[in-house]
Amino acid sequence: MMNESHWTDVDRYASELLVKPAAPLLAALEASNAAGLPPISVSAPQGKFLMLLAQTIGARRILEVGTLAGYSAIWLAQALGPGGQLVTLEKDPLHAKVARENIARAGFADVVDVRVGPALETLIAMAGTLTAPFDLIFIDADKPSYPLYLPLAVAMSRVGTLIVADNVVRKGAVIDAVSADPRVQGVRQFNELVANHPRLDATLLQTVGSKGYDGFTLARVAR
Ligand code: SAH
Ligand code: DHB
Ligand code: MG
Repeated sequence: MMNESHWTDVDRYASELLVKPAAPLLAALEASNAAGLPPISVSAPQGKFLMLLAQTIGARRILEVGTLAGYSAIWLAQALGPGGQLVTLEKDPLHAKVARENIARAGFADVVDVRVGPALETLIAMAGTLTAPFDLIFIDADKPSYPLYLPLAVAMSRVGTLIVADNVVRKGAVIDAVSADPRVQGVRQFNELVANHPRLDATLLQTVGSKGYDGFTLARVAR
């Protein structure tokens, strides 16, 4: 009973009872599937978790690394008050196109800025010209590059900024120090950089659900 299909059933229960994704979120997943994008968006309960986190800290500026079809971006955009902004980075032009359509259908075309290109290049350019820090940064792109994204995320933060990273447990493989999987090594290095960073207080939360067994690292810029 306590297997992956049960986790999916409980995610459905949570979604129907509590999460209740708005129609544009369902449409975004349908459009993502129809366009052949991989089914690797955050789950609905995870998306709402991100939205509630952003609302709880009163986020007005959000940065996302890894857009895919814009599903998590729409959840996060729903947390923004008037004048809020979300910048989301995506290297794949097709993903960006599908995301822009989904984001427009959700009514957030003027709130969400999808920037196409390798995130590392975009982040370096952004860090050099930034006028205001981000309040929340969600890292969810290529896992081997997470260690490169972290210092740039911190550079675009202020005290109180929350940095959230997806897929850091990887079915538990994160504790395999000799894993040959570059994604595992990427999230391991990321977690170590977070742990050793003088400005960050952090935790790691394991998750199960329709996306299997995985987890989030949450780090707050504390000083
Ligand atoms: N955050 C999304 C899922 C992102 S999936 C959601 O939950 O809805 C990861 C995305 O990162 C993919 O669309 C992939 O194309 C993109 N990506 C991978 N490498 C990248 C890179 N170097 N720069 C920017 N985006 C990248
Ligand atoms: C993958 C990427 C993700 O961001 C995710 O949530 C799940 C899977 C992947 O690259 O396989
Ligand atoms: Mg992810």
